[in-house]
Amino acid sequence: LAPVIALDGPSASGKGTVAARVAAALEFHYLDSGALYRLTALAAVRRGVLFDDVEGLTEVARALDASFVEGVILLDGEEATEAIRSEAIGEGASRVAALAPVRDALLARQRAFQRLPGLVADGRDMGSVVFPQAQLKVFLTATAEVRAERRHKQLIAKGEDVTIQKILEDIQQRDARDSARTVAPLVQLPDARLLDTSAMTIDQAVRTVLGWWET
Ligand code: CDP
Repeated sequence: LAPVIALDGPSASGKGTVAARVAAALEFHYLDSGALYRLTALAAVRRGVLFDDVEGLTEVARALDASFVEGVILLDGEEATEAIRSEAIGEGASRVAALAPVRDALLARQRAFQRLPGLVADGRDMGSVVFPQAQLKVFLTATAEVRAERRHKQLIAKGEDVTIQKILEDIQQRDARDSARTVAPLVQLPDARLLDTSAMTIDQAVRTVLGWWET
């Protein structure tokens, strides 16, 4: 089986960017598992399935017509790369991700990314549930304030009109929900290495992970 680097951590920690860059450097495949939860939320909204309809959401996840082609994300054959990044869809993703049947419906799809020469998997439960045998597990984090600043910059660049205080509140709520939920809670595993990027550039974070991989 192909080797796996599992990169888990909280919302807006920069995992996605770091994971994609590590994957590119090693010429590994890249799994953005959060995108699958975001796509499930977006597909549900488009089909009129409500976020309290567990059966409906599970069916949406099971039947999800999603593909990832060189950084472009397609839903039902149409580009959804940007559409899944809104705050509203992030909220929805966090809600659908708290449902065990939805997570089960997405499990095989995630494991299918484990192909040679290797995989960098980004999420909340990569090292605990999806790839417990991963050769390297990293818990990538930053303080809530730093994460709020980073997310604020991204959203402002996209023209969304939000305050940093609102984002900080959202991040703290999402952290609480992701950590307290009974299914696949966000935890730092005993066998994961801690990477606190609060005072690091992306380059430094990428180099740290690559250094751990090489040794
Ligand atoms: O960083 P952010 O939380 O904004 O986005 P994301 O990583 O794309 O994840 C979106 C949501 O999906 C999060 O709120 C998590 O609750 C959930 N998620 C999860 O439960 N398990 C994963 N492996 C990845 C994401």
